[in-house]
Amino acid sequence: MASNWTPDGWKAHEARHLPTYDNAGELGDVEQTLAKFPPLVFAGEARALKADLAEVAAGRGFLLQGGDCAESFAEFHPDNIRDTFRVLLQMAVVLTFASKQPVVKVGRIAGQFAKPRSSPTEKQGDKELPSYFGDIINGIEFGDETRRNNPQRMVQAYGQAAATLNLLRAFAGGGYANLRQVHKWTLDHIGSSPWGQKFAETADRISEALDFMSACGIDPGTVPQLQGTSFYTSHEALLLPYEEALTRRDSLTGDWYDCSAHMLWIGDRTRFEGSAHVEFLRGVGNPIGMKCGPSLEPDALLRMLDTLNPAREAGRMTLISRFGHEKVEDGLPKLVRAVKREGHPVVWSCDPMHGNVIKAESGFKTRPFDRILSEVRGFFAVHRAEGTHAGGIHIEMTGQDVTECTGGAVAITDEALADRYHTHCDPRLNAAQSIELAFLMADMLNLEAVERAKQAA
Ligand code: PEP
Ligand code: CO
Repeated sequence: MASNWTPDGWKAHEARHLPTYDNAGELGDVEQTLAKFPPLVFAGEARALKADLAEVAAGRGFLLQGGDCAESFAEFHPDNIRDTFRVLLQMAVVLTFASKQPVVKVGRIAGQFAKPRSSPTEKQGDKELPSYFGDIINGIEFGDETRRNNPQRMVQAYGQAAATLNLLRAFAGGGYANLRQVHKWTLDHIGSSPWGQKFAETADRISEALDFMSACGIDPGTVPQLQGTSFYTSHEALLLPYEEALTRRDSLTGDWYDCSAHMLWIGDRTRFEGSAHVEFLRGVGNPIGMKCGPSLEPDALLRMLDTLNPAREAGRMTLISRFGHEKVEDGLPKLVRAVKREGHPVVWSCDPMHGNVIKAESGFKTRPFDRILSEVRGFFAVHRAEGTHAGGIHIEMTGQDVTECTGGAVAITDEALADRYHTHCDPRLNAAQSIELAFLMADMLNLEAVERAKQAA
């Protein structure tokens, strides 16, 4: 357990991107309410995820982490949860089938509400109001009342997270994720994409393999792994009053866990030395992610790893690089080398979203799909060259048929962005783009395996 740590110790550190609440009494009441609510996850589940990630860190497996940039109260609907879940399942199947590696599935879901923003205020005409910081803090509508930081929103976010998690648990264990259903996971709207066709072919081959195994006496009735799947939740641990209120001592080990999600990550803007967010996360036992952008120097990264994972526990740390397609091949190797040299066991994951945002001529914030793929290719190339494992992907995606990122096999043009641009924050991959990405990564994982076999020979 971390030394000299308490759940509220972060308050003595510099906190960036935290909202200020004008009524301290109201905030305190909400914190007390949340502190009495049941934890959303159990510490044992967070440890199970850590064990899965330890395998990935050792080169055996791949982390698939994805979901909305920001969940919203308005888009809270069972169909949206189901559709995101099934695209993640489809991606996992593509990756597992092609690479023969287990895929650890983690949603950016059931708690991904709070957003760091580049500007604290937004101007429309002559009026200036606080920026939108995510539905757990204030409302997206540009108005005095909606943009006020309202602590009651944390209670609503908790309720939404609990109901979302409940449905995800039901899908993961209750039959929906049974591999026998693999054909039924395809969403109607990706039928027109060549990748939808390719997925159907993969599904055929899986069904054939299942028929063969069933004839040998191995089927979902006898093997629980075929009946359901493990699915974990994660979000950026940004809103520390919420995270602190859900931090509990595990009754089995006595250790502290942030029970708002299985995995928490620290954003690129809050991972500086001395940060309140780093101080908070160093004391909880969950698996932790940390975004690594171009401004991170190798020495600072190593100091951060010593702070967050002094015992060098495998599965504890996932480093999520987000350089941008033009910078990844220059910037990432020095970090990978430093971590390898010092022997820190980490999962290296690639966020190809946050370094590739542009403003389209139409005025929409978008991410060209080509640049996303190019960063993923660069990430895999760096790991192949360094002899390390490209261990994961971290994406903003949705199962809905949105038009937010340009490009893809059924190309979304700049002009089409306005058709179905629904995100509450950053542009997300739609289902067809997500599956296209999964097929590309499956090829990359196979290249890595060939390279490894060559080196072993
Ligand atoms: C995010 O993942 O939504 C995010 C804000 O990323 P980053 O901290 O890498 O900018
Ligand atoms: Co984002």
